[in-house]
Amino acid sequence: MKLEALPVVKGDHNLSSYEDVYTSFNWEEAEKNFTWYETGKLNAAYEAIDRHAETFRKNKIALYYRDSKRQEKYTYKEMKELSNKAANVIKNTANVEKGDRLFVFMPRTPELYFIVLGAVKLGAIVGPLFEAFMEGAVKDRLEDSEARVIVTTPELVNRIPVDELPHLEHIIIVGEDVDTEKHIDFLSEMETASKELDIVWVEKTDGLLLHYTSGSTGKPKGVLHIHQAMIQHYQTAKWVLDIKEDDVYWCTADPGWVTGTVYGIFGPWLTGSTNVIVGGRFSPESWYQTIEDYGVTVWYSAPTAFRMLMGAGDDLVNQYDLSSLRHVLSVGEPLNPEVVRWGAKVFNKRIHDTWWMTETGAQLICNYPSMEIKPGSMGKPIPGVQAAIVDEKGQELPPYRMGNLAIKKGWPSMMHTIWNNQEKYDSYFMPGEWYVSGDSAYMDEDGYFWFQGRVDDVIMTSGERVGPFEVESKLIEHPAIAEAGVIGKPDPVRGEIIKAFVALREGYEATDELKEEIRLFVKEGLAAHAAPREIEFRDKLPKTRSGKIMRRVLKAWELDLPTGDLSTMED
Ligand code: WT7
Repeated sequence: MKLEALPVVKGDHNLSSYEDVYTSFNWEEAEKNFTWYETGKLNAAYEAIDRHAETFRKNKIALYYRDSKRQEKYTYKEMKELSNKAANVIKNTANVEKGDRLFVFMPRTPELYFIVLGAVKLGAIVGPLFEAFMEGAVKDRLEDSEARVIVTTPELVNRIPVDELPHLEHIIIVGEDVDTEKHIDFLSEMETASKELDIVWVEKTDGLLLHYTSGSTGKPKGVLHIHQAMIQHYQTAKWVLDIKEDDVYWCTADPGWVTGTVYGIFGPWLTGSTNVIVGGRFSPESWYQTIEDYGVTVWYSAPTAFRMLMGAGDDLVNQYDLSSLRHVLSVGEPLNPEVVRWGAKVFNKRIHDTWWMTETGAQLICNYPSMEIKPGSMGKPIPGVQAAIVDEKGQELPPYRMGNLAIKKGWPSMMHTIWNNQEKYDSYFMPGEWYVSGDSAYMDEDGYFWFQGRVDDVIMTSGERVGPFEVESKLIEHPAIAEAGVIGKPDPVRGEIIKAFVALREGYEATDELKEEIRLFVKEGLAAHAAPREIEFRDKLPKTRSGKIMRRVLKAWELDLPTGDLSTMED
């Protein structure tokens, strides 16, 4: 069934005519929006905060923060001073210098943002970690990046295996009662730190963010983004988020995820807008209350969250005044047409899907306010970006043919490298200068792109990317498990859930208690979101003759589909 397209929203949009701009735009033009274009002095945190603190935006609210205990607001001038202080603290206590990897492992609080901005002002590379990570996940990332410094809280510090991390020199703690023999006490250092700072100016290609992300094989890989990405952070915040001077913008993502740094920090602040940040757990009530209380006008969230809100019922939405909303967007997984229709009904707004990846560093394929939306489509490439569907040889395919979604190299926010792994980095590219995404998709006759699935076995659960190999590796560390194969199983709310097929070692009994124990083992060893929701015991798992678990066969079993070619399977 063909769904009806949602018509263009009339109004004054930053990108008023997609076609015109698409044909004429080039990225050099966008550089003129930055002070470094004139001064030659470049730093993304300066552009995001300090430059506004020196203009009419000085006393404008840069940050509204709230969680269940705190409710605060900070002007651009205050953000400048507090991030300067944070920079001085980490410089004076941990000697943080340009190029150092500094990790933040803490929940969202204003301090997290002062520290990230402060570290960037020193030219350090910031590696954000989800607070849900357990010891194994923390260790892999700090080890691979050879991080010198980590900032965390008293609740999380025990998950850092200090003895196994020879490069880790300093642990900075944000919280009360810090043992100053072992750790640096951030809050008391802040009291006496200076508000003045000499910013470290960097090159366009110097490191800014290091985001670890999962693939279908191997350990998580460190995707390095550089300062020049700010060009695209800014430009997409203008065109796609459509941010204007009076907007109150809310991105619901945690900075452990690239959306939470690029569109939770840089995008909104580079445009000088008022940014809302909410800490704590998701609840439909508190989310709607946030929109009502702050008068949120531009809202960027994810399909899983919209589906959960939808599940909480229309009666609930109707209890809140959400009339401030002007522009609503989504990212992370396929946005179901049903959710788009629900959004049109309850918010009276179209939800604009956007597509990008950790590796691409910013939005690439999007629905704009000045464009007709076809529910279920990710939209069209942003000006300055050329997208195509290619086959295994990198040949462009005509409309409606399914293939690998590819982007022509040369957009400013593209990852600079994979940390310590040039080979992995190279594997993303095909002849013809194509960056190949690993998403299968097709393009229609109007140039809209339609997502079909992952080419590889990567699982998307509640918008989080989980590598099956990582979960399998953790599973087989459990004494009862001989073999494990992990797949994503379709789920109406979470997109996919993690399902593990497990073969037990001799002498272990397949019981429900054991399933629970295994689940807990992954949860405590890796992360809660990586723990399988379903576990199925099997005597044997399907493997190739070379011993590789055939996840495709597991998936076919699960979904009752034909198993396809089994010629490589062992007898
Ligand atoms: C993968 C990237 C950059 C933040 C998003 C998550 C999937 C992303 C969409 C969308 C369908 C989407 C793709 C992509 N994805 N956006 N609009 N429609 N799928 O970043 O963790 O790097 O995951 O998320 O499969 O490859 P990530």
